[in-house]
Amino acid sequence: MAAPLRFDGRVVLVTGAGNGLGRAYALAFGERGASVVVNDLGGDIHGGGKTARAADVVVEEIRAKGGKAVANYDSVEDGDKLVQTALDNFGRIDVVVNNAGILRDKSFARISDQDWDIIHRVHLRGSFLVTRAAWPHMKKQNYGRIIMTTSAAGIYGNFGQANYSAAKLGLLGLSNTLSIEGQKNNISSNTIAPIAGSRLTETVMPPEWIKALKPEYVMPLVLFLCHESCPETGSLFEVGAGWMAKLRWERTLGATVRRKNIAMTPEDVRDNWEKITDFTQSSHPASNQESTANMMKVIQDIDSAAEAPVARRTQSAGMDPELAKAHDIPPESFTYTAREVILYALGVGMSTKEDEYLKFLFEGSEAFCTLPTFAVIPAQMAMQQALMQEIPGLKQDLVRVLHGEQYMEVYKPLPTDATLTSKLKIADILDKGSGAVVLYNVESFNEKGEKVAFNQFSIFVVGSGNFGGKRTSDAIIPTATVPTRAPDASITETTHVDQAALYRLSGDRNPLHIDPSFAALAGFDTPIIHGLCSFGYAVRHVLRRYANNDVTRFKAVKVRFAKPVLPGQSIQTDMWKEGNRIYFQCKVVETGNTALSGAYVDLTSSSDKPASVKAPSRLQSDSVFELMQEQIKSRPGLASKINAILVWVITKGGKPVSEWTIDMKTSKNGEVYRGQPKSGKAECTLTVSDENIMDLVTGKLAPPQAFMAGKLKVKGNIMLAQKLGVLFNEQAKL
Ligand code: NAI
Repeated sequence: MAAPLRFDGRVVLVTGAGNGLGRAYALAFGERGASVVVNDLGGDIHGGGKTARAADVVVEEIRAKGGKAVANYDSVEDGDKLVQTALDNFGRIDVVVNNAGILRDKSFARISDQDWDIIHRVHLRGSFLVTRAAWPHMKKQNYGRIIMTTSAAGIYGNFGQANYSAAKLGLLGLSNTLSIEGQKNNISSNTIAPIAGSRLTETVMPPEWIKALKPEYVMPLVLFLCHESCPETGSLFEVGAGWMAKLRWERTLGATVRRKNIAMTPEDVRDNWEKITDFTQSSHPASNQESTANMMKVIQDIDSAAEAPVARRTQSAGMDPELAKAHDIPPESFTYTAREVILYALGVGMSTKEDEYLKFLFEGSEAFCTLPTFAVIPAQMAMQQALMQEIPGLKQDLVRVLHGEQYMEVYKPLPTDATLTSKLKIADILDKGSGAVVLYNVESFNEKGEKVAFNQFSIFVVGSGNFGGKRTSDAIIPTATVPTRAPDASITETTHVDQAALYRLSGDRNPLHIDPSFAALAGFDTPIIHGLCSFGYAVRHVLRRYANNDVTRFKAVKVRFAKPVLPGQSIQTDMWKEGNRIYFQCKVVETGNTALSGAYVDLTSSSDKPASVKAPSRLQSDSVFELMQEQIKSRPGLASKINAILVWVITKGGKPVSEWTIDMKTSKNGEVYRGQPKSGKAECTLTVSDENIMDLVTGKLAPPQAFMAGKLKVKGNIMLAQKLGVLFNEQAKL
């Protein structure tokens, strides 16, 4: 059995722990090794009176069992004093269970100001004050566990409890935001809606319920949520009688009732009411971002709907570049260790399969180093913080932003652990008509104050253009045009199906990259890989091909994000070397789409020597067959279906340049490899150029057409060639 959940060394504050639920929590924490602050004012259930006895009795109970506890008799309205008791007696504060509570039940019309205020003061304000006092200590120690106590009366409403319901649901909102703000410091915050027999419920519950619904049946959930091993945060649970369940929001698919260039009316709402309120199909937004993520698609759908155009309005989007540029944004620091460095390397596709990558993945390696593109992580953290603030002159709806381009420059190799301080500035805002481009410059400094990296994020804000601004700016670091000749080198790599799931752990937790329902809301069929993840792949390819993976030779990179890559797809980085500048672009092999364009890496010095381990593939067809190899492996029944040996001859400029065998006969599960058949004889030989094979695979060129046009030559049993369609169709689908 797994080890019991212990709280040794942890300091726990439970408010209102003299009775009912709070008492059950305090006793259990004490039994499991925590040092407990038992807070209780000792009043009556309506908030009157005061006695030390309530807390003292529980402290005695804990101590009698050998536990550690001290009493605190202050009201939760004196939050500081409660936390001070923890610090004075035990030197720290790890867990706050906001539990103290009273009732002033009255039907709504009879609620006095006092009835309203005292309920809000004890429940909502009290929990705020206690938690606020503990917060800086939790942040500093990078650890904290918080519980808020709401009620079914708040979630669902209850007759006679308007004051209580309002305060109780306020606690859920408070916890939800604390869970977000606390995330980077390992502070979790969860909310429970308990049900238990106590003096608070004895007036409303029958006696047999009071006896049966023991507070001890709520306690285990609270303890689990407060344990260091529990990652849950920002969640809401109903709990009682030994049963517990998590709650979430459900939303109908809704209806877009506005039409292009037509005034929107209340009648439009009435006429769509059934659809607006129909839960037969629904979604479950779990964050503010998810809740508003579909807005961009709604706007685009309306804008692109066919409708007689009317004179375009010039709108002021609230953008004022000069004001935004002048605004001073506080710096943001980011501390990382080998763990973050390794997690990032895995996130951008490094694998221990390649010996040469060990130095990025193992802190014990003598050459352990940080990939230069890791410098986007602290910069992005600074961006995320800045975007949460109001920046004068910058009006942007976060669900309508697209990451357009990225420039990054590194001035010295990044350490493998450090605290970097990033300073963000709005470099400019451009008016592109259909939207605005906001240029964010982020400089990152090390502990000595030396500049280690510079990033420029170019963010397109849909619908925020037409504010009368300029279309271009000197502040932009431009993209490049890649040479027109065939690439000097290419590297193709298949991403993992969990690539985005892994990459997001480095900081960009946008659910677009993991949650299918969120991706659907944003208009994608499946979650997509982060642009900055593909960016990491590409730079890695360049460093491998032209710098022997030597991070000290990396200077700068610029890319434009053209199309997304899906997890599991293959990235082909085509590279052109011109001096120390390596131009590149990335294609998605399965679709032929360009994912990264206009891109280059500047190196301090470059070498033509291919990376020591595997020679990179130079033909497009190489990736097609490599992919086929993978697919055959994952579909063991396929060989017997095809039951033939075929050979592909690939030409370039009319000359054969490579050969591939697809043996679906002599090898049990099928095999794809370079060259002529190792055993047996080709029953069918197909000849095609390296250019045309891509069109065949992606379905742009139908095989009969190719055959008729002389682009595909077939020798031997032509019927067998048709069977291969299965494999090609699979690739086209990807
Ligand atoms: P309880 O009355 O048994 O315990 C609450 C404790 O809080 C009392 O010992 C009281 O002296 C203390 N307290 C009241 N005001 C305080 C203040 N200003 N400062 C410090 N201590 C104060 O109540 P119970 O049932 O254990 O409730 C605990 C929490 O659970 C409350 O927040 C309540 O609203 C909530 N809750 C309870 C439900 C139930 O079925 N028992 C249902 C839904 C919510």
